[in-house]
Amino acid sequence: MPFTLHRGDALTALADIPDNSVDAVITDPPYNSGGRTSSERTGRSARAKYTSGDTEHDLANFPGENRDQRSYGYWLTLLLTESYRATVESGAALVFTDWRQLPTTTDALQAAGWTWRGVAAWHKPVSRPQKGRLKQSCEYIVWGTKGLVDSDRNPVYLPGLYTASQPRKGRMHITQKPVEVMQELVKICPPGGTVLDPFAGSGTTGVAALREGRRFIGVELSEHYADIAEQRLRSALTQDDFELAGPEE
Ligand SMILES: C[S@@+](CC[C@H](N)C(=O)[O-])C[C@H]1O[C@@H](n2cnc3c(N)ncnc32)[C@H](O)[C@@H]1O
Repeated sequence: MPFTLHRGDALTALADIPDNSVDAVITDPPYNSGGRTSSERTGRSARAKYTSGDTEHDLANFPGENRDQRSYGYWLTLLLTESYRATVESGAALVFTDWRQLPTTTDALQAAGWTWRGVAAWHKPVSRPQKGRLKQSCEYIVWGTKGLVDSDRNPVYLPGLYTASQPRKGRMHITQKPVEVMQELVKICPPGGTVLDPFAGSGTTGVAALREGRRFIGVELSEHYADIAEQRLRSALTQDDFELAGPEE
């Protein structure tokens, strides 16, 4: 089977993934962004936080959005440390975040041992204008490598800016990423290699990996979203006639 989906907590599941066994960690963790007070962090669900003003959906809540700033940085460091151990030499980590958590995420990546290589942006053309302010129309992809970049192993040229919207129609997760963006990002993993996403959500990273001929290992804590991810991964295999990609020409 070209994919494995673990159900449960990411840190627990990562401990069972062997050393030096994945080629890229590409993940979109709960951002834990914007809770100024304890009651804002613990009393407001991810659903309320990410979908205020959007009353037309019945998407399920997800866990893991209640950490304060210091514990988020500590927790993310633990996760990225375990991910580092599981990644091959010269493998890459790509971690989504927002503007508030950008400094914490670059700190956590480096504290975990990765060599920080840069920040790419996901630009969302459909975003809410804010009176008297600059529009928050981007989320960010902090990336790094385990040691040196090996461009002979994976001779790709990838963009630093990705523009795409996730249409509301057909959306399955509150913070779902557009699959076309993820299909570009998984190319940081050499053809036929393995992509790990410890926060799989509805499985978008995995669908992208399978479409691009990469293997996938995902972890998801919410049973509801793990079921959705499993269905999407299975249907990506049948629809796209999965074949492991060979070396780039
Ligand atoms: C930002 S969402 C990922 C969305 C995904 N990129 C997609 O396109 O569907 C983060 C996911 O991490 C899951 N999560 C939260 N805490 C977790 C934990 N400790 N272990 C594993 N998954 C967790 C949440 O249930 C949520 O689905």
